[in-house]
Amino acid sequence: VNGAAAALLQVRRDQMLGKSIGELIADPAVRDAVQGIIRGSGQRRTFELRREDDQGGGILRIHVRPLRRDDCGGALVTVEDITQQRVADAARNSFVAQATHELRTPLTNMRLCLEAALDDKQTDPAVLREHFNILSHETRRLERMVGEMLSMAEIEAGSLQLKSDDVRLEKVFDELASDYRPQAAEKRIELVFDLPPKLPVIVADRDKLLVTLHNLLGNALKYTPAGGKVTVAVRVEGASGQTLVIDVSDTGIGISPDEQPKIFAKFYRAKDPRVGKITGTGLGLALAREIARLHGGDITVQSELDKGSTFTLNLPARAAQAKAA
Ligand SMILES: Nc1ncnc2c1ncn2[C@@H]1O[C@H](COP(=O)(O)OP(=O)(O)OP(=O)(O)O)[C@@H](O)[C@H]1O
Ligand SMILES: [Mg+2]
Repeated sequence: VNGAAAALLQVRRDQMLGKSIGELIADPAVRDAVQGIIRGSGQRRTFELRREDDQGGGILRIHVRPLRRDDCGGALVTVEDITQQRVADAARNSFVAQATHELRTPLTNMRLCLEAALDDKQTDPAVLREHFNILSHETRRLERMVGEMLSMAEIEAGSLQLKSDDVRLEKVFDELASDYRPQAAEKRIELVFDLPPKLPVIVADRDKLLVTLHNLLGNALKYTPAGGKVTVAVRVEGASGQTLVIDVSDTGIGISPDEQPKIFAKFYRAKDPRVGKITGTGLGLALAREIARLHGGDITVQSELDKGSTFTLNLPARAAQAKAA
């Protein structure tokens, strides 16, 4: 019996030696399997047992197999703690279900738009144009979601890499504004961009930076009831402009103090029943913070329940080299 097995079975190693399997593992099925092998008639078997402890318990996987083929001398019992594996499996399964559901929404909208545009009776150019606008918007949304899922998988595998582009921030915020204006208007949310007259060009991974901003702005609009206000305020801090600070504030449902540190964890969604009614996977902020940190920046939150939240993204504003004309 090795030390790790002793720890998993919650017994002291020196107390284990010389004991029968029945005294170590209470489960009668495991005991029978071991005795069967010792008698020479048993097969290899795998069991999963619940383990109780003061930290909420866990799941142990126990393999029982003959020590040597055709030898009835002994049985090898290995004990593995699969609690974490199970937690990750559950999160992954709910993610797949959630992701599939979310991917379907833009796809359905795209099909409806295409069908409407393909309708022979529909010849009004203005209406057709509107359909194509929606198609373009939904295609981008789909692209973004797939990109987010890929990035998440890359973070998981430790292989997320940044490209470095010269990012023209004016263009980035223009794009964000045109992406979110319709959604804000539909929800009667006032959307304000408070930008300095001149924005620096920074070196960053443009697509990943957009993922981050989309998450923050998307959340602000999602978690703010109709009639509220969302502000994106941008400033450059430091004498020679070293840090780009972007505040995304809303007048929404807010986040309780004890949950504020938790919302950056993968798959975490606040217990607030109002959150449960809104679709989401709980991946957005985990990804956004990871991207900010890979850039040498960070995301922090300040929030008050029922008042609103401010998410602050700061990024080192390494100015891009001015290109020779
Ligand atoms: N602006 C906000 N106001 C209130 N709660 C927020 C806000 N932004 C995030 N939260 C809380 O933090 C949780 C995690 O946010 P995150 O963006 O990671 O996931 P999500 O929005 O639920 O799903 P998605 O993966 O689609 O972004 C949310 O479920 C919500 O409880
Ligand atoms: Mg989100």
